[in-house]
Amino acid sequence: MTAGSEYWSGRVVLVTGGSRNIGRAISRRFAADGARVVVNGVVAGEAEQAAAEMVDAGLDAVGWDADVSDPAAVDAMFADVAERFGRLDVLVNNAAVTMQGRVPFERLTIDDWDRIFAVNARGTFLCSAAAAPLLRAHGGSIVNISSIGASKAHRSAVPYDATKGAIESFTRALALECAPDGVRVNAVAPGAISNDRYENLPQDVQQTEVKSIPLGRAGTGAEIAAAVSFLASDQASYITGHVLTIDGGLTAQARQASSEIIIDAGGAEQ
Ligand SMILES: NC(=O)c1ccc[n+]([C@@H]2O[C@H](COP(=O)([O-])OP(=O)(O)OC[C@H]3O[C@@H](n4cnc5c(N)ncnc54)[C@H](O)[C@@H]3O)[C@@H](O)[C@H]2O)c1
Repeated sequence: MTAGSEYWSGRVVLVTGGSRNIGRAISRRFAADGARVVVNGVVAGEAEQAAAEMVDAGLDAVGWDADVSDPAAVDAMFADVAERFGRLDVLVNNAAVTMQGRVPFERLTIDDWDRIFAVNARGTFLCSAAAAPLLRAHGGSIVNISSIGASKAHRSAVPYDATKGAIESFTRALALECAPDGVRVNAVAPGAISNDRYENLPQDVQQTEVKSIPLGRAGTGAEIAAAVSFLASDQASYITGHVLTIDGGLTAQARQASSEIIIDAGGAEQ
């Protein structure tokens, strides 16, 4: 399966937080391979704008604003998918937030903790639960976006890393429950992936950020999208409950230099 094929033709894919950065790359990859893509976003109008740009490029996409932590908004989004398309083949749980900068554990507030868990963990649960009946009908698949922070801690990013650990446990537990229905559930755990925050860093800081990565550079959204597409496809038909690390070799090392900046996801209010 190569990018630009018609592999996903006739199939419907929903990507949460799909309007920018990694989510946008995932949305575009599925659409470029023929899927009808529902681009979810939380910033008013952003998902529609991203979808409109894809339509202008000859791809099939619609935008839908919904806060993934809000059960009513999530239910309305999946009801619309059912009504509009009558099917869902792939759910990508990509939406996430973290703190602005590094916040030491003792300075965290309960609101910080709850908001990050609400989007990253509850959002993944709510979307998966709402998608399940649709996915079951055609043997679909869920791909959750974790982080290497689930297994190797970022400094002073306790709630973010904890949500990603929860997402990986959720992936395995849900894979067991969904297997009898032919629905597979996997995750990818990215390392440092270029996004607008990374691209806006000064060149020397960018270089410091990637110097301990064996492949010597940040990854791209397209590289994450390729893995997500593979895991969701029939080529991965015997893979479920798996977490695929995509980090340029970062976590394969005995020692890793600690990064100063978290580029993983936007702040809570984004
Ligand atoms: N960039 C990295 O280096 C990196 C590394 C590891 C993991 N990740 C993960 O990859 C995913 C995408 O990260 P990114 O780098 O593209 O950052 P990003 O901040 O651009 O992506 C997060 C997306 O989620 C959306 N979002 C936030 N709250 C939402 C809500 N309540 N409802 C719906 N959407 C909401 C944001 O608007 C944004 O589009 C995240 O899950 C992140 O944790 C990123």
